[in-house]
Amino acid sequence: MEPNPWLFPVPAILVSCKGGGGKPNIITLAWCGVAASVPPMVSIGIRPSRYSHDLIMASQEFVINIPSRKLARAVDLCGNISGRKTDKFKAAGLTAAAAKKVKAPVIKECPVNLECQVRKTLTLGTHTHFLAEVVAVQVEAGVLDAKGKPDMKKLDPIAFCPMADQYYALGKALGRHGFSKKK
Ligand SMILES: Cc1cc2nc3c(=O)[nH]c(=O)nc-3n(C[C@H](O)[C@H](O)[C@H](O)COP(=O)(O)O)c2cc1C
Repeated sequence: MEPNPWLFPVPAILVSCKGGGGKPNIITLAWCGVAASVPPMVSIGIRPSRYSHDLIMASQEFVINIPSRKLARAVDLCGNISGRKTDKFKAAGLTAAAAKKVKAPVIKECPVNLECQVRKTLTLGTHTHFLAEVVAVQVEAGVLDAKGKPDMKKLDPIAFCPMADQYYALGKALGRHGFSKKK
C-alpha cells in the first residue's frame, strides 16, 4: 500500500462558516484534530476548491459543531453538495443560531459547538490547515453526565473511517485514563 494519512477513526464534524456579507454555509470535515491544550487550539484541513475555504479565509472564523448519530444524513449531505449553489441549512433541515463570540452561526441541532478564531494558516499540499483557537464552547445540558462532563453515550458522536469510507458509531468504553496503574 502507498503511504497515506489514514488515521482512523476520525470524527465527522460539521463546520459552519460565514464570509464577508454572504450567507452562512456548512461543510462536513474529517481532517481535523486537537492542536494544543493551552491555549485551546484545533486544526481543520480544507481543500482550496471548497466554497467554505473562501468563506473561512475571508472571515478567519468558524464553528466546529459535533453532530450526534441522528444527524448522520445531514453530515453526509453537507459533505456532498456545495454551498455555492445550495443553502445547506435548508437542504439538511438544520438551524443557524447566533454564536457567542464569532460571526459564523452555530448549528442548533448539534449538542456541542466550538467557536473558533483562526490564528495560523498552513498550506500543506492538497489542503489548507486552519489552526484556530477555541474562544467559546456551548454544550447542550442533555449530553452532560452527573459531573458536568460530556457523556459519550448521550452525545453519540459519529466516527469516520477514511480507509473504509464509512461512518461508525462509538462502541463500549474500555476504561478510564490511568486504569492500568490500579491494582
Ligand atoms: C465524511 C466526509 C468528510 C469530509 N472531509 C473533508 C475534509 O476534511 N476536508 C475537505 O476539504 N473536504 C472534506 N469533505 C468534502 C466536503 O465536505 C465537500 O466537498 C463539500 O461539498 C464542500 O462544501 P462547500 O463547497 O459548500 O464548502 C468531506 C466529506 C465527507 C462526506
